[in-house]
Parts: sequence; C-alpha cells; structure tokens
Amino acid sequence: MCGIIGYAGREQAAPILLDGLERMEYRGYDSAGVAVRSETAGLQVKKTKGRLQALADMTHGGADLEGTLGIGHTRWATHGEPNDINAHPHVSENGRIALVHNGIIENYLELKEHLQRQGVTFVSDTDSEVVAQLLEFHYNECGSMLEAVGRCLRRIEGSYAFGIICSDYPNALIAARKDSPLILGYGEHGNFIASDVTAIIKYTRDVAYMDDGEIAVITPESIDVFDDEMSPVEKAHSVVDWDVSAAEKGGYPHFMFKEILEQPEAVRKTISPRIREGRVVLDDLHLTAEEARRFSRIFIIACGSSYHVGMISKYNWERLLRRPVEVCLASEFRYSDPLVDEDTLVIVISQSGETLDTMAAMREAKRRGGRTLAIVNVVGSSIAREADDVLYTWAGPEIAVATTKAYSTQLVLMDLVGLYLADLLGTVAREEYDAILAAAEALPEQMRQVLEHVEKLQYFASRYFNHDSIFFIGRNLDYALGMEGSLKLKEISYIHSEAYASGELKHGTISLIEPGTLVVALGLYTALFDKAMSNVVEVKARGAEVLAVTTESCRERMEKNADSVVAVPDTHPILQPSLGVIPLQLFAYYVALQRGCDIDKPRNLAKSVTVE
Ligand code: AGP
Repeated sequence: MCGIIGYAGREQAAPILLDGLERMEYRGYDSAGVAVRSETAGLQVKKTKGRLQALADMTHGGADLEGTLGIGHTRWATHGEPNDINAHPHVSENGRIALVHNGIIENYLELKEHLQRQGVTFVSDTDSEVVAQLLEFHYNECGSMLEAVGRCLRRIEGSYAFGIICSDYPNALIAARKDSPLILGYGEHGNFIASDVTAIIKYTRDVAYMDDGEIAVITPESIDVFDDEMSPVEKAHSVVDWDVSAAEKGGYPHFMFKEILEQPEAVRKTISPRIREGRVVLDDLHLTAEEARRFSRIFIIACGSSYHVGMISKYNWERLLRRPVEVCLASEFRYSDPLVDEDTLVIVISQSGETLDTMAAMREAKRRGGRTLAIVNVVGSSIAREADDVLYTWAGPEIAVATTKAYSTQLVLMDLVGLYLADLLGTVAREEYDAILAAAEALPEQMRQVLEHVEKLQYFASRYFNHDSIFFIGRNLDYALGMEGSLKLKEISYIHSEAYASGELKHGTISLIEPGTLVVALGLYTALFDKAMSNVVEVKARGAEVLAVTTESCRERMEKNADSVVAVPDTHPILQPSLGVIPLQLFAYYVALQRGCDIDKPRNLAKSVTVE
C-alpha cells in the first residue's frame, strides 16, 4: 500500500522524508516522490517511477531540496499506471499546492469533469490529482487552506489519508484521514505525519492516531486537530514501545527469514502474559459468561493468511465450544447480507489492522448488532480502535509482505481465546483444558526445535524449486494449514499452487496429477493419519513426487510411502498446526530464494491492502 510521510520542523526536510520512505518500502510500491517548500524556490517537487533509490539519486539524497517543510510518498498504483506523471506528490495547476494521498476517491471522475468544465487541465490519470486541483479551486474561493481542505472533504467520497503543503504557508502542513491510516508524530526537532510508525520511530515514539473525518495542522511547534465540524479535538498520545532494530533486518538476508526465526519468541510474548496460575486470562476481553452463552452464532472474518488462521480456528473452536463457527472471507462477507444480530460474536483477524475489506466487513457486522472482537498485531490500528474488544498479538513489527510470525501469533492467540470461551461455556473438561494449556506453554521451545533443521527445507527446495505447479493436500486441520502453505509459496516464489482437501482429490482434481507432479502431503492431524497415508498412496500411484510433513510419532509410517519426509514434534492436536506451518514457511522461502525472487517485496503485493 502507499506510504506517506510529512515533516514540519527545524531540520532540512528532504533527507528525513527519504529516510522515512525507505523504512516503508516493505509496504510495496511502484513509484516515489517528495515535495519540499523552500523560502526561495517555492514548492520543489521530485518524483519518479521505480525504486526509492532512483529518487535519492535524483536529489543527491535530498541535498538538492532546501526547506524544512515537506511531504513524501511511495505509490502502489490503483488509478493510472506506474509512471513519473502518476507518481505523487500531485501539484495544483498554479503550482502552489502539493498533495500526497493513500486511498481511493470513488467520485473522482465526476469531480474531474466538473473542474475541467471550469477550465482546469489535468496532467495525470490519477484520482489523487483531482483533489489537488479541487483544493486550488476552493482555496481561490475562500483564501484559507484549512477551510479549503474542509470544503474538499465534504465533496469527496472514498478513502483517504492526505498530506498537503501550500507555498503560501511556510511552516504548516495539513493532514486528513478517512479509512486509510495516518499517524501524528510529536518530535523534538519538528512534527510528523506518517502512514505507519516505522517511518518516524527513529525521530519520535510519541504518537497519536488520527480518526476518520479529522483534519490536522502540523507546524514545527504544534499539532492542532479538528473534527469534521472544525471543532478542536484533543488527541490521546501513545508511546511506541518497540525499538528501531525490530524494524530492521539485523544482518539477516531477508526480513521474512528473520521473522520466521522470531516466531518462538513472538509466540512466547503473545501467550505468556495470558496464562496465569494455570488459567487463560484475557484482561482486555470484556465478555461475561452470560454474554458468551447468549451467542448463537460465531463468525470469523479475515483475508489471506489471517483467513487461514480462521479456517484452523473453526475446526478447533467447534471442537471446544460445540457451537457453529463460520469462517468467511471479509470481501465476501460484507456483500452477502450476513446473518448477524446481537446474538452473534464476530471475530475479526488482521495483522495490519488496516485491511479495508476486513474493516468494512467488521463495520457491517457492527451495523447489524454483532459483538466484534479483533485480533490485531498493529497497536492503535483502525480495526483495533473500532472493534468492541481487541486482543493484540505481540509479534512486533512484521516487515516482510508475506506474513509468518504474525500468522503464528494469531494462531496461538485464537487457540487461547477458544479455550477461554470454552471454559466460560463449560464445554471443555478440566483435564483437556490443562493439557492444551501445558502444550501451549511448551510450544515456543518446540518451535525452536523445528527451526534447528532449516537446512532440510533448504535441501528440499533445491530439489523442487523448478516445478511449475505444486499441490498441498490434507484433511481437516491439515487442509486449512495447506491453504497457508500454498499461499506462502505462491506469494513469494510465483509458482502456481493449490491447496486441496485430500479426500476431495478423487472427485476431479486428481486428473491433474501426473508423473513428476509435486504434492506436499500434510499428515499432522494424527486422528486422520491413515486417511492421509491412503491419499499419499493415491497420488503416488499416478506418478506424483510426495514431500510429506508429519509428526515425529508418524514419521516412520510416512517414510514407507512418501519420497521425502519432514517431521515436527508432537503436541496437542489443537496446537499441531503451529508447528506444522514452520516447514511450509521455510519451504516457500528457500524455493523463492532459489528462484531469485524479491522475497520481502513480492511483485504486485502490498503489506497492508487498504483498497477494495
Ligand atoms: C499474507 O502473507 C499476505 N500478505 C496477505 O494474504 C495478508 O494475510 C492479507 O492481506 C491480510 O492482511 P491483514 O492480516 O493485515 O489483514
């Protein structure tokens, strides 16, 4: 997704803007630009298609741009192809207003035609430029940039985070947000706006999160915030508690590899504070037993890997709670006229807390009276702030586009929440409760044991990286886990892959299995191990090559039929996916490495998808 940074201070702005944009590269982009206001040269705008390094080269690391007020942007194209003209910042026709935008202006064509009828000429194909021109129109009308922004926001429809500077205002930048995140940073040598904390944590940990409809005026000395009626708003400050190194590679070849290795610690940090004296304790979940008993239906809503967590949780929660649990893709849920009412619990899972599909689905569930609980990794993110309750995963900043440690912490936190609810409902026996809890506490160490054999997956990747289509098959929890293994592989290696319920293969898809087809067979759900074995035999009979992932207790039996076997320690069935996912992450990583892919920033993808 697009990245925004803005600065108003006493230091030269351009180097700060470039540094902040570099820290947001992981979000995915196709062009970048900065605008700096100078005393002598008015607005200086530099922007280019391609990597941020090209922009730094163009401006000699920002040294060519003099001025202490500026905005910067990395663009992930939605309207208008990636090129120099469509890159942000966009400038009004008279050259006095520059704007950066993250989001989508739904009614941009109507506004563009209106302005064209007023004689305005446009240079780009973007929706964002329309707002720059509209600002000039209203600024000419009223003579106040703040008022002009207010008038603009009342006319545009869609999602936005704006950073705006005007050559008539030497010390002030203006920001506004609706549906796309924007953070205010209070620094010692100046103040900031940013799409996410990683861009400014080097300069300040003192931040506030803008809410929908708010406008902020940022100067070197102050940040004033107004609501959509222009009434002043007092913003609560937050202190960012993770350190800069957490958002840096720290000597690893890729963020993704670093984050795979961080999983045991991330899982420990997520579960330890929530297990006290042999009980699951969820201080942030304000739900009584009576309220829990009232829920006649439970939805889990998410996208991508977070959705795959929901798939696994469906199996586990139905076992624990003995209630129907429906897992839905957020993009489908919101338009399905969902059966949600005040007796519905809606779990929303999102690493970034900004995924627009998930946010919109949650709002739809709330509108229908559902009780919403968000499982989120980014503190203060939009979903976290709008849900009725939020439980944070403590994975720390996840920079690689392909999620690993956030997925793993979501998985275990959902296991704990399921156990907690089952205890509230009285649907889990004491010894089962204790067994699951003991297994959860042992998980970080077992994850470390799995990570001691990364070279095994490196070897398998070197054997299989040239395949052009790979199947992941499994039953029950293994099928849900296979969905994640398949997505990881597709995302970063660009190999086509498909996860399939192995019992369903014979109903059609098995026609695609031919000599040499690679099948990753998951045999971790030991209750159905015999079935998994028969499916391995079934695809082997058609000539498939089988890489199996199973548990230590089943390794020997699996080795009788599979060509290659990776085994992970045995744990409680509910938690087994947390160990089984690690070989799948490593397999995807090493295959992508063999294929020379851009592992941390895969093509076409963004870390947080804040558009529909
Ligand atoms: C996962 O590796 C992908 N980056 C993607 O599927 C992601 O899980 C999805 O976009 C949901 O993101 P969220 O968890 O931040 O809502």
